[in-house]
Amino acid sequence: MCGIVGTIGKTDTLPFLLEGLGRLEYRGYDSAGVAVVNENEIKIRKAVGGVSRLVEEVGRNPVQGNPGISHTRWATHGSVTTENAHPHLDASGRLALVHNGVVENHKHLREELVGRGHTFHSQTDTEVLAHLIGESFDQNADRNRSALVHAMQEALRHVRGTYAIALIHADLGRFLAAARSGSPLVLGIGKDAQFIASDAAALDGWVQDVVFLKDQDIAALDGESFHIAKVNGSEAAVPKLRKIEVEARATGKGGFPHFMLKEIHEQPHALREAMKGRIILEEATARFTGLHRTNEQLRDLKRIILTGCGTTFHAALAGEYMIESLARIPVECDYASEFRYRNAPLDSETAVFVMSQSGETADTLAALRESKRKGALTLGICNNVFSTIGRESDGGIGLRAGVEIGVAATKTFTSELLILAMLGLMLGRIRDLSQADAMEVIEGLDELPGLVARTLEREQIIASIAAKYATARNFLFMGRQANFPIALEGALKMKEITYIPSAGHPSAELKHGIIALINEETPTIVLAPQDEVFEKNISNIEEIKARRGPVIAIGSEGDKSLESLCDATILLPAAPTFLSPFLNTVALQLLAYHTAVIHGCDVDKPRNLAKSVTVE
Ligand code: M6R
Repeated sequence: MCGIVGTIGKTDTLPFLLEGLGRLEYRGYDSAGVAVVNENEIKIRKAVGGVSRLVEEVGRNPVQGNPGISHTRWATHGSVTTENAHPHLDASGRLALVHNGVVENHKHLREELVGRGHTFHSQTDTEVLAHLIGESFDQNADRNRSALVHAMQEALRHVRGTYAIALIHADLGRFLAAARSGSPLVLGIGKDAQFIASDAAALDGWVQDVVFLKDQDIAALDGESFHIAKVNGSEAAVPKLRKIEVEARATGKGGFPHFMLKEIHEQPHALREAMKGRIILEEATARFTGLHRTNEQLRDLKRIILTGCGTTFHAALAGEYMIESLARIPVECDYASEFRYRNAPLDSETAVFVMSQSGETADTLAALRESKRKGALTLGICNNVFSTIGRESDGGIGLRAGVEIGVAATKTFTSELLILAMLGLMLGRIRDLSQADAMEVIEGLDELPGLVARTLEREQIIASIAAKYATARNFLFMGRQANFPIALEGALKMKEITYIPSAGHPSAELKHGIIALINEETPTIVLAPQDEVFEKNISNIEEIKARRGPVIAIGSEGDKSLESLCDATILLPAAPTFLSPFLNTVALQLLAYHTAVIHGCDVDKPRNLAKSVTVE
């Protein structure tokens, strides 16, 4: 996590640093800070809280300078305090550094530095980097720009873990250096300035070209030219300049009180975008050109692994049902965060779909690299196709959901579900799925955006149910088949933005332990659309009611049985069975959203979370 922006140009860097940092707040918002070189001194401003707090601090205590570095933090080592906010200084106070990643051997390095007389001012793992580099630089008689690069090479060789760093030195004037290993960093080249950032999106509108730095790269920038060296001193590859189209930034909330609600309402549009040009009616199939694979190559696949984290993992679980039923190919789902810690057998007949809306999730990236190492085909499913996962995969599919600002994933989840449904359709058509059955799927998909729009029309009913149950201290969510992962997702949404303990379960597991949790105070949300397991869901509801548990049922329009049995009912548009997970998701997103609003929670920036989890 954590976001870095650094720049060196002809004018004051503060406006760029603060704006760029605001664009990276999705990576963390525990604290923010900035350091600039001003008249051969390092000037630092820091604040606990989001970037707006830093802007206030700079307003109270103005500062300007060039070059400059800045950071938005998601705390890993050391609590959320001003002392722990980046930038951090070296022992001389003349070198300032920002860091994204985790220095795993920081304790050992700190002890050694303390033994050599260094004093630390924070509990962070980062501060050792500033001290190590500063110490090495100060020992070099030259004290010039090359000496700083040498100092970085010398210091970083002792570091275990992951890092993206940017640093400035008061004695080197217009000079900014950066390095990465395991954490993303991009170099941007503008007309009058050069930049370093964790994500190209931070540089939107300021740069013409970018260079995605590689692991072990050290970049040295003087405002006009740049040079890339390697940490181990070897020759760096010639940097590849890339034009980058950063998608138009969602600057406003479009009249909605929160980004999350706006993004929930954007789902019909996002779903249409995900399908555009990808449904081939004449062949009753779907096509994804970014996979770079022929039908023959795809037909040879014997197994599919879907991997991701959090909400994206729930999409994978739902995808398993969809792909297996449409394509009859074995699908396994793996938490990306667990994947590399078990010895998964992989081979060239396995395709690993590496799923991540951000494309920067550290665990998912590690799963991608592990899969590659073992010879599997890796295919990314990302919203940000320029992300590290997007770039490192053998092929991929873009979600086209548009920028998602709310930390709780909403539209990207339903777009992931849709991509997986289309993937099932495509893989089915190159195997056994008949044209007639495929056309039924396509007709259903065609209706999907409209069905989601009609589901959104239930918002007032859902808001009133949220009001009725907002004081609950726990929630249970249950569903069967592809609606089981939706129950998990509903529970995750509720937890993340309301902080109310909530758990999702397969309905059929009720009797195997969960029923012990049923009491008069714990509402259970049961996903019970009209499908072949409807009667089974009714039995579960009866079992909960027999133990006086309140039930909120989410069913299908026209249903008569749920209303008489349940304490609250949300009836959604009647839809083909394979589409009910989409509609149920939207209802659960709204339920969590309205509950969070009643509780006065910070819906778009829930406590302790970050949009993109770029550390293990
Ligand atoms: O960007 P990714 O899809 O890789 O993110 C994975 C999870 O961190 C993410 O889905 C997280 O669970 C969501 N913020 C939940 O709303």
